[in-house]
Amino acid sequence: MRILRTIPEIRAAVREARGTVGLVPTMGAFHDGHVSLMRRAREQNDLVVVSLFVNPTQFGANEDLGSYPRDEHADAARAELEGVDILFAPEATEIYPDGFATSIHVSGVTEMLDGANRGAHHFDGVATVVAKLFGIVRPDVAYFGQKDAQQIAVVRRLVRDLDLDVRIEACPIVREADGLAMSSRNVYLDADARVQATALNRALDAAAALHESGERNGDSILTAARRVLENAGITPEYLELRDALTMQAVTRVEGDTLLAVAARVGAARLIDNHILKRS
Ligand code: PAJ
Repeated sequence: MRILRTIPEIRAAVREARGTVGLVPTMGAFHDGHVSLMRRAREQNDLVVVSLFVNPTQFGANEDLGSYPRDEHADAARAELEGVDILFAPEATEIYPDGFATSIHVSGVTEMLDGANRGAHHFDGVATVVAKLFGIVRPDVAYFGQKDAQQIAVVRRLVRDLDLDVRIEACPIVREADGLAMSSRNVYLDADARVQATALNRALDAAAALHESGERNGDSILTAARRVLENAGITPEYLELRDALTMQAVTRVEGDTLLAVAARVGAARLIDNHILKRS
């Protein structure tokens, strides 16, 4: 595996390659969720590029940019083990050189959930860096985790609106044995918070079970989830039902519906979600 840090180097490496190019954009601190994307990319492509860049523009002033877990050495070893061809790990100045003045704002799908709670800068930062990575690597396919469901909706909208020639593949959420969705931010959880955090997935499961039994009323489904969170002492930042593609609010669950939750648990801000499938 090669570790490349500059745009000319990665461009040259991709140009030399034959066949399809798969890109897995990441911010590092790899866990099995990231690895699942690498494996899917490895199965489907001739060249697999993983980008490792803790993108400053998607963090708010009061967020965890400074403390975000970083371990490039371990990440490189893990990526190598998974058969990744190139780890693209640029410095911030490579991506945002002096004079950088462009930001991509996707409207609509960014206006609720994490977009409303973290602020518009978050998805502007994501859309801008993802567009740049697509321009730099020019992948045939890019892999994203369903863990960040709204991020996928934003990237799909971006690709459609700017006619970017890349296929977006969404991969399922990978969980710990007790159901907690894997996240680089789980390292912020102390022992008590780690136990408390399992309530997020349990809340989604309770709602999904009610939906499965035939309930279609959104409020009833949300109440089932909220009860589990309350019992665990968690007040969600949001707990909402949204159309999985448009992110529009849903009151009766008829089509495929995203049930999304965000909450502060101990020192971490966690998100999780579940798609309630149209039966
Ligand atoms: P990061 O949080 O590092 O996540 C990289 C990719 O891994 C994302 O597509 C995310 O959805 C996926 N992922 C994270 N946890 C997962 C899990 N438990 N199961 C499955 N997939 C999971 O998301 C970002 O970085 C950034 O916003 C980025 C897209 C790289 C732009 O900076």
